[in-house]
Amino acid sequence: MDLLIKNIKGLVQVRDSPPQKVCGSEMAELPVIENAWLIASNGKIMKYGRMENFTGLDAAEIIDATGRYVMPCFVDSHTHLVFAASRENEFVDKLRGLSYEEIARRGGGILNSANKLQQTPEDELFEMSLERAHEIMGFGTGAVEIKSGYGLTVEDELKMLRIARRIGEETPLTVKTTFLGAHAIPNGRDRNDYIREVMEVMIPRVAEENLADYCDVFCEKGFFTPEETVLIVEQGKKYGLKPKIHANQLRISGGVQAGVQTSALSVDHLESIGQEEIDVLKGSATMATMLPGAAFFLNSDYPPARRMMEAGLAVSIASDYNPGSAPCGKMAFMLSLACIKMKMTPQEAFNAATINAAYAMDVGDLLGSITPGKDASFILTKEIPSVEYIPYAFGSDVIDRVIIKGKIIE
Ligand code: NIG
Ligand code: FE
Repeated sequence: MDLLIKNIKGLVQVRDSPPQKVCGSEMAELPVIENAWLIASNGKIMKYGRMENFTGLDAAEIIDATGRYVMPCFVDSHTHLVFAASRENEFVDKLRGLSYEEIARRGGGILNSANKLQQTPEDELFEMSLERAHEIMGFGTGAVEIKSGYGLTVEDELKMLRIARRIGEETPLTVKTTFLGAHAIPNGRDRNDYIREVMEVMIPRVAEENLADYCDVFCEKGFFTPEETVLIVEQGKKYGLKPKIHANQLRISGGVQAGVQTSALSVDHLESIGQEEIDVLKGSATMATMLPGAAFFLNSDYPPARRMMEAGLAVSIASDYNPGSAPCGKMAFMLSLACIKMKMTPQEAFNAATINAAYAMDVGDLLGSITPGKDASFILTKEIPSVEYIPYAFGSDVIDRVIIKGKIIE
């Protein structure tokens, strides 16, 4: 046996046979075993139980978790963590009253990040991105989706995706990568010509070099229309890339409908969403992913999480870690925002950031719950009074250690 954790105050999100996702009112339930033990071997969860039934087992590594909780690592199903520079000057412009769209029109925003990224050599960009990957592992993230979209040329999009793949190879993180060539139209490019390049050059190259799992489009007024979105992700599907779509961030964009129509794995953002979109999502296999860090940073409305759950939807949360709209990859803070700003209970927020998030990036067979056979990827908390304390103490560092695939990270 490799790793034994005993005297665990609460083993959180334990599910012997987990559902693929938890929907609506099911999200209120977060199964916890109090006073528990857990054994992991070869990076996988083997067994767990209550301390009163513990017969004593040996292991190479034994952790006494008295007073502390063990929970599955967070799954962050939406990030743009490969970027070349921060954009705090735009942050200050925003404080002075400029909108996200105005900043984009003045050459800031995505095009600013693309400009910097195009000038940054691959190895340098990898080192910066690797540092962020280590940062989020320290925050308890065990799996992350990473998008391209700041390259906007064939070579720079491929460069971003190679870096994202390398992060998956050189860290214990489980990484899924998403091609987001349709993030913005580059300066000086003809719109139709660029879209043709995305579809006919970039997607085939990305697929040929096996650099992406998913295909994303920023479906938003001023960026890409729902019709363009459908065309691009359908082309991605022909090359084996499943759709995951940026939808309804700034206004109702038709992105939710485009996502459901194309069987997207998830539609993400949803700050602007009406009953029609909720009805479209109902009964579909598409996960509704909310990015509360972006709503917080842009000071916008938040998705109506409670209304969505009352309609029976499964919802998930992710960080959207990026330099423009969400410069923060700390999932515990996303949980706090989900509770404080979207009135989710801590139990609902934990489900949104683990089991439902794993569904949103198709890693539910490996992560998202404490289940025999899944990865031994856990957060071991400090001594804290309750699970609710985690989103409550929004500025505190509640994590003692992070274990990914059976290895202690810190
Ligand atoms: O998810 N909305 C589109 N993409 C990113 C932000 C991009 C940027 O501003 O750099 C997002 O919010
Ligand atoms: Fe995003």
